[in-house]
Amino acid sequence: MTATAPTHSLSDLLKLIDKVFGSDKVMKDWGREMIPEYYAQSGPAYEKMHSAQGCMHSALNADGTFSFDGYLVQPRAVVAETVAVKGKRVLELGCGKGFNSLFCAQNLKEVQFTGTDLLQDHVNRASGFAKTAERTNVTYEQASYEPLPDRFRDFDVAFGFETLCYAKDTDLVAASIAAALRPGGRFVMYDMHAYGSADDLPPDLARATRLYEVSVAVTRGFIQAGQWEASLRKAGLVVDPVEDLTAQLQPGLYRQVEMSYRTLSDWKKRLAIKAMPPLLTRNAIAALVGPAICRLGRESNDGILAYQKITASKPA
Ligand SMILES: C[S@@+](CC[C@H](N)C(=O)[O-])C[C@H]1O[C@@H](n2cnc3c(N)ncnc32)[C@H](O)[C@@H]1O
Repeated sequence: MTATAPTHSLSDLLKLIDKVFGSDKVMKDWGREMIPEYYAQSGPAYEKMHSAQGCMHSALNADGTFSFDGYLVQPRAVVAETVAVKGKRVLELGCGKGFNSLFCAQNLKEVQFTGTDLLQDHVNRASGFAKTAERTNVTYEQASYEPLPDRFRDFDVAFGFETLCYAKDTDLVAASIAAALRPGGRFVMYDMHAYGSADDLPPDLARATRLYEVSVAVTRGFIQAGQWEASLRKAGLVVDPVEDLTAQLQPGLYRQVEMSYRTLSDWKKRLAIKAMPPLLTRNAIAALVGPAICRLGRESNDGILAYQKITASKPA
């Protein structure tokens, strides 16, 4: 599906959001810890709307056309890193329902993958997917990366996709990632980062950015661009040049705007939404404002959020 630019102005989108959800009501959750609650309510929607295979990250479609293949860009990078270092043990942080580790395990059958997540429910779901796929070289266990427990050591590769945005103390997390890697090991992360504060943006863009953050449970705001690199260096890792992949989000973002706009503009569907879990339905807010708040490379109205790939090595 080729992506066409959304036709609605940001101001119209914010009006629709206010009408359906009450923007002030949504913003009351700013600063509140809500990860377990958010995923408990949003889980079914992710599988229905995003990916039945349990993938919970963004598609990267470099050719301007949305396709499922876009979800495989990130795990393919891990496969390539693992092959490059002749890795035998790979650790995933914030694995969600295990999509990435399972994909990698299917592609590298001689490598052992360990997926970890804060939520036992995600670990159970991931284990179920792996069992169905009859893969024995991937296991999942409950563990927070904040910090990673000492039992995680000597991994050839560690990675995390769209999970480290929830980290409260990047120095602490980076130190525990460095400790989990063997000398010569590699670290890979993909995530959204902010260039500056949303509070300094024009009012509509500032509002849209904050609403987006709350809707995806990043309730302290996205981590500043550059902060992870600084923390990883402090932890003794050598950081590669960072890649900005924001433009590749565009097909997925445009597609979501149209789907959400149609749903929220239909009064019957709006009534149905009222009966659904609130944190699930709020994902529509993120879908609506996504293109406006990301640095998609347009000339004006560009937001402060950029989707980056960060890689680093532990010196041998
Ligand atoms: C957007 S999902 C991404 C899941 C997976 N990485 C993927 O690409 O499909 C973010 C995940 O991070 C997990 N998470 C949040 N905070 C965490 C923490 N402190 N430690 C481990 N996992 C965490 C959540 O439970 C959720 O599964």
